Amino acid sequence: MVLHVKNLSVQYLKTADRLILQDISFSLEPGERVALIGANGAGKSTLLLTLMGIIPLQGGDITLGGMNPTDKEQLRRLRQAAGMVFQNPEDQLFMPTLLEDVSFGLRNYGFDEKTMEGRITDILARLGISRLTNRLSHTLSGGEKRLAALAGVLVMEPSLLLLDEPSSFLDPRSRRTLIRILDSLPQTMLVATHDLELAQELCARILLLKEGRLFADGPAQALLQDHALLEQAGL
Ligand SMILES: Nc1ncnc2c1ncn2[C@@H]1O[C@H](COP(=O)(O)OP(=O)(O)OP(=O)(O)O)[C@@H](O)[C@H]1O
Ligand SMILES: [Mg+2]
Repeated sequence: MVLHVKNLSVQYLKTADRLILQDISFSLEPGERVALIGANGAGKSTLLLTLMGIIPLQGGDITLGGMNPTDKEQLRRLRQAAGMVFQNPEDQLFMPTLLEDVSFGLRNYGFDEKTMEGRITDILARLGISRLTNRLSHTLSGGEKRLAALAGVLVMEPSLLLLDEPSSFLDPRSRRTLIRILDSLPQTMLVATHDLELAQELCARILLLKEGRLFADGPAQALLQDHALLEQAGL
């Protein structure tokens, strides 16, 4: 079992009158690809950020590859086993150039130059952004930033990918490239998305959130055809 979430609850402010996530339980098997859908504000990003140990949990349990994000020691290893692409690429890119950004994680974890160069060259070529290698990060377009952020995560080869709206900002061709690349990867994936077509193409299973609760968990095909259910969830 690669990811196990049990009775998870999250509250941003202790004084807030409601929990942002409430009593969420699910597991992901190795290699499984699951889409996380739900209306704006349903809690998708919060769930992914909580799994990465970025937002503290209020109650419940998370184990990811046998590690717990609430344990400081385990968190560093957990962040090597799991990679997250943030909803807003501006939150992810912080080095002056694209190359420095994409190398940052590998350098930080002590990979040798040859491995680094090989992985980076390969991923940038596959994402179609080799020409941007030495560009200043802040001069990249929205879609280019999205692809750069994705590259920085993919070069780490994490066993679990947490992707928050990976297809946003992308033009139709880059979006197809992205879907093809994700489809070719062996990794376990949890993909928060409003792109239901992408969800259907990539994922056999869907988790549907409604107002911070897990409203449905089931096969993508059946769930996406259940218009009454989607409507009830505000989609
Ligand atoms: N830092 C914060 N402090 C307080 N409330 C927050 C904070 N971040 C998010 N929220 C609230 O938590 C709820 C869930 O937000 P979240 O970003 O997880 O939703 P989402 O499903 O990812 O939505 P979207 O589809 O718009 O990306 C929303 O009501 C949001 O306003
Ligand atoms: Mg979100």
